[in-house]
Amino acid sequence: MTDEKNSGSDKLWGGRFAEGTASSVEAFTASIHYDSRLYKYDIAGSRAHATMLSNQGILSKDELKAIIDGLTSIEKDIEAGTFEFKRELEDIHMNIEKALVDRVGPAGAKLHSARSRNDQIALDFKMYLRDQCDILADLLNTIRRAFVLLARKYLGDVMPGYTHLQRAQPVQIAHHMLAYYEMFGRDRERILDCRKRLNLSPLGCAAMAGTGLPIDREQVAEALGFDGVTANSMDTSGDRDFAIEFCSCATMIQLHLSRLSEELVLWSSSEFSFVDISDKFCTGSSIMPQKKNPDIPELIRGKSGRVVGSLMSLITLVKGLPLTYNRDLQEDKEPVFDTVDTVTASVAIMAELLENLQFRTKTMAEATKTGFITATDLADYLVLQDVPFREAHGIVGRAVAYCLDKGCELYDLSVEELKQFSAVIEKDVFEVLSVEGSVNSRISTGGTGLVRVEEAVQNAEKQMGI
Ligand code: ARG
Repeated sequence: MTDEKNSGSDKLWGGRFAEGTASSVEAFTASIHYDSRLYKYDIAGSRAHATMLSNQGILSKDELKAIIDGLTSIEKDIEAGTFEFKRELEDIHMNIEKALVDRVGPAGAKLHSARSRNDQIALDFKMYLRDQCDILADLLNTIRRAFVLLARKYLGDVMPGYTHLQRAQPVQIAHHMLAYYEMFGRDRERILDCRKRLNLSPLGCAAMAGTGLPIDREQVAEALGFDGVTANSMDTSGDRDFAIEFCSCATMIQLHLSRLSEELVLWSSSEFSFVDISDKFCTGSSIMPQKKNPDIPELIRGKSGRVVGSLMSLITLVKGLPLTYNRDLQEDKEPVFDTVDTVTASVAIMAELLENLQFRTKTMAEATKTGFITATDLADYLVLQDVPFREAHGIVGRAVAYCLDKGCELYDLSVEELKQFSAVIEKDVFEVLSVEGSVNSRISTGGTGLVRVEEAVQNAEKQMGI
């Protein structure tokens, strides 16, 4: 560290500087207040790097031991909350490296051989996101499980299915629940796929061109649980695709949660009265004593704004960057951290809410009785009597208009009345005009008929190990 003593700067990079850094600049450039979150990965990466340097004869066994012991003591202090992070040391990498040099002396100063903060931050960030992918994949299964349990519990109960938020066709509550099971299943696949793609070690790319020192990148990659190493040092040092991909997958999760939240807000209103969200998951009004508000779904819906915003920040961040590393990239951490915190908390609390959710099955079934919800079934009935579908559509439309005039539903009409619209209609039409008949006729693959949904519930239970 003689260079440092002779220069005007006390920074690890201070050799060529005659003057110290302005404190305004230190404040502006520091990232330690948020990247300290990466300490575990930074230390694990340093351990693996030092071990490799020693195996390659770049560090002696004694130096390696000093470094490992030093890193362990730093990790302990960070975990105990006694480690002092310093803003003037900019980031997590230099805070740890400086502490190491202070604790173990010259051996510590050798650790950064064949490494740059550019490949180091890429490593820390990838290891962090890899863990987050695993955490999210587990949480997604927790919420999927909650949907399967609801589907099993309400198997056979019906509700209106909607298009344009108008009653469309009757469906099983279980079918609606399993729709979300599918969505979060795709989300989980996406997250695991993102993990697969990011799991290549950047370490050894150094600043951006690789290194002339005789390192072994594969050895480090293996020690840190990577599937291999990245192929191009220039790509690696400026690459943040993996962070953007993660945020994009996470955004999709939050969007799905947001759509579900919107349904829960609607369903818990007096206008719908379809669900009862447990008291534990609602809050009251400070002025209106009668209120029980669905704040959890509302907040989840609201938080999708920040998750989408973070994705936009990241995309915009890399848009105009020339290869390779640019300091702009330091701005990648906060949007990712915020996305991780928001999405994991949202999935976890939504899963809990679902575990405590009750459907008002009577009200839901009642809601299928109005709104001509079985009109398509009448059209299908006519099709089976060889009436062309377009013609059938017109016939049913006229029958609906007649009912609107009369103030009744299709199933209130007599066969004689129905025959005015089409002579092929017989008494058996009432089987298809009933809600139960309608639901259970829809046995096409992926449909809402009882046999299909029962099968789907069983498959889902098998997948979830229930
Ligand atoms: N704190 C920096 C970041 O997050 C680490 C890499 C800094 N590299 C550099 N050459 N200044 O991007």
